[in-house]
Amino acid sequence: MRESETEPTLLIVGLGMIGGSLAAALKANGFGGEILAFDRNPDEIETGLAMQVIDGGGAQLAPLVARSDIVCLAVPVLAMASVLRELAPLLGERIVTDVGSTKRAVHDAVVQAMGGFPPRFVLGHPIAGSEKSGVAAANPVLYRQHKVILTPTPATDPEAVFAVRALWQRCGAQVLEMSMAEHDQVLARTSHLPHLLAFSLVDTLARQDARLEIFRYAAGGFRDFTRIAGSDPVMWRDIFTANRDAVLGALDDFEAGLKRLRTAVEQGDSDAMLGTFDRASHARHYFETLLNQTSYQTMEARQVQYRAAPGVAVSGRIRVPGDKSISHRSIMLGALANGVTEVEGFLEGEDSLATLQAFRDMGVAIEGPHQGRVTIHGVGLHGLEKPAGPIYVGNSGTAMRLFAGLLAGQAFDSELTGDASLTKRPMARVADPLRLMGATIDTAEGGRPPLKIHGSQPLKGIDYDMPMASAQVKSCLLLAGLYAAGETRVREPAPTRDHTERMLNGFGYAVTREGDVARLEGGGSLTSAPIDVPSDISSATFFLVAAAITPGSDLVLEHVGVNPTRVGVINILKLMGADLRLENPREVGGEPVADLYIRYAPLQGIDIPVDQVPLAIDEFPALFVAAANAEGTTRLRGAEELRVKESDRIQAMADGLAVLGVEATVFEDGIDIVGKGGENANYAGGHVDSLGDHRIAMAFTVAALRASSPILIDDCANVATSFPGFVTLANRVGLQLEEVTA
Ligand code: S3P
Repeated sequence: MRESETEPTLLIVGLGMIGGSLAAALKANGFGGEILAFDRNPDEIETGLAMQVIDGGGAQLAPLVARSDIVCLAVPVLAMASVLRELAPLLGERIVTDVGSTKRAVHDAVVQAMGGFPPRFVLGHPIAGSEKSGVAAANPVLYRQHKVILTPTPATDPEAVFAVRALWQRCGAQVLEMSMAEHDQVLARTSHLPHLLAFSLVDTLARQDARLEIFRYAAGGFRDFTRIAGSDPVMWRDIFTANRDAVLGALDDFEAGLKRLRTAVEQGDSDAMLGTFDRASHARHYFETLLNQTSYQTMEARQVQYRAAPGVAVSGRIRVPGDKSISHRSIMLGALANGVTEVEGFLEGEDSLATLQAFRDMGVAIEGPHQGRVTIHGVGLHGLEKPAGPIYVGNSGTAMRLFAGLLAGQAFDSELTGDASLTKRPMARVADPLRLMGATIDTAEGGRPPLKIHGSQPLKGIDYDMPMASAQVKSCLLLAGLYAAGETRVREPAPTRDHTERMLNGFGYAVTREGDVARLEGGGSLTSAPIDVPSDISSATFFLVAAAITPGSDLVLEHVGVNPTRVGVINILKLMGADLRLENPREVGGEPVADLYIRYAPLQGIDIPVDQVPLAIDEFPALFVAAANAEGTTRLRGAEELRVKESDRIQAMADGLAVLGVEATVFEDGIDIVGKGGENANYAGGHVDSLGDHRIAMAFTVAALRASSPILIDDCANVATSFPGFVTLANRVGLQLEEVTA
């Protein structure tokens, strides 16, 4: 059977640049169906035929419709009504779609012409264009990697949606669905408003200089900003007429923003200017990463797979990125302080960047990050502004829980959202005690995100016994305590990381310790202080374990944070027999730091002391890999918190280890792992799933060093949340790691 017999005949009504590019793209991608075109202008049909982008066409609709299976309307939005009137009696059960850039107007024109909205009519809009017009400008790659938005209603026939989707996908486009109203709002802001501004700016300058002399002196800024003012005037007149209300709404917002900026310039308000430009510059870079399909805060999860091959010795001298916990806190406290805070060594991972962006959205001017340097222009405890929308904290439980505490004390309402993994994690552990302090917080079912926090609720200090050893809960309550009347006391069942307490003290806000209680008085203020973020011991752990299990290894990790509340991994590895020592101990910005020297030595299985569990809570995925390579069994108990991290880390690791043939028995609060032991022993490779958990992904890359064949690890994009540049650094010291992007 010839392919053309299985593919539909497409009729493009209106053979301009957009319709012509659709035809050209389909032809270029091997579409086997016939492509016909209708256009009132015979020259366009002639050109289309000569370019071989259409197989036939003419200026008579009825015979062309009769030959077609799918009709695509590619005429200007305001011409739609008259074409539709002519088409209505001819269409029958045919699938119809369009390319109009406003959807409500086309919908209404269809209803008018056809007396209702047919279920096989699928409204669509390719987000691609050019200033050129006419079929001669048809471009077969115009839609490649561009978005096409379809706006089906619940009554739309799924078969019709499928067929239209398939057409666009054939052109290399990425097809999305949304409601008509959402489409029109989004386009008013991202396309129609910029065109309006470009037209207006060029016209304003042209009027001021009738001879157009001024354009002789215009440089790149003018060119970049105004390229789109060369677009088709009739088409844009139609669009602004058709999408009037949404465009006016967008213009109102723009005028308000322009007025604020005007005032800032007029008054020489440097902070306000910097705040606006930084936010904008950051947003522009973010947009660029989306365009380039790189990872930072991707809204649609990127599928990244790692292929980790067996390796030999791990060696070298490296510095892993900054501490995640301290990076989050540096932005939070810097923003709430009076004065300017300079941060060095900031972790430029997705999670801490999301925290940084959240404060920009609350009106804080933040410069950077540039190679780990961030400058925060603090606004004081009461200087935050209500953000325009929900605060998105990505994958980060720390950010959501700490934010909950500090937002509970604000005068405005706020909402905290996160990615799919975070949306499954428990938040009642912070919402409940915050309510005891007087906060009003709504959670989704089961105490899960999103969190809706009501502002202007007077808080009072509490004396709280934490049911679990959690630095996040402790920090959340201490931050709320800054805004509370009287004293806030938090008792922890076991010591947890104390970065919040150290940093608050460093910012001149007294937090005292009485045995197992951390306490502070509300109503004070923070004074900015420089912060030097040490390397993250949690990231260093993957390399510690890599060296500990691979014969011949000799590795130095520089400038690692060795706060006593974080060194569980060092204690545990030493108990297992690792050859590990700390050199050059020093203190930077209130946090102890050292260089870690590790060499291969055979490991023994141990019973992990329960008091070390909270001090190594993030390090267990890697420590399980150490256990798999030790002689004898390693037993972990008292670690039920591992079940509510970015994944259920006990189960995720047990499942992956099982694939490799490592025996493990799972308990509610821990695991027993039977090590393969010995210098020559190893386990199999295989295909494991990180479940989107960065630390599970990195742990299995380390495991691969001692596997007999490669390990394929699924769902690794989130490594960018805590360890940007992991693959490069890992390969530098001897891991055999490759990133495969689907
Ligand atoms: C963190 C505390 C820990 C840890 C997390 C970071 C922090 O969580 O697992 O990665 O920065 O306070 P819990 O406090 O919930 O144990």
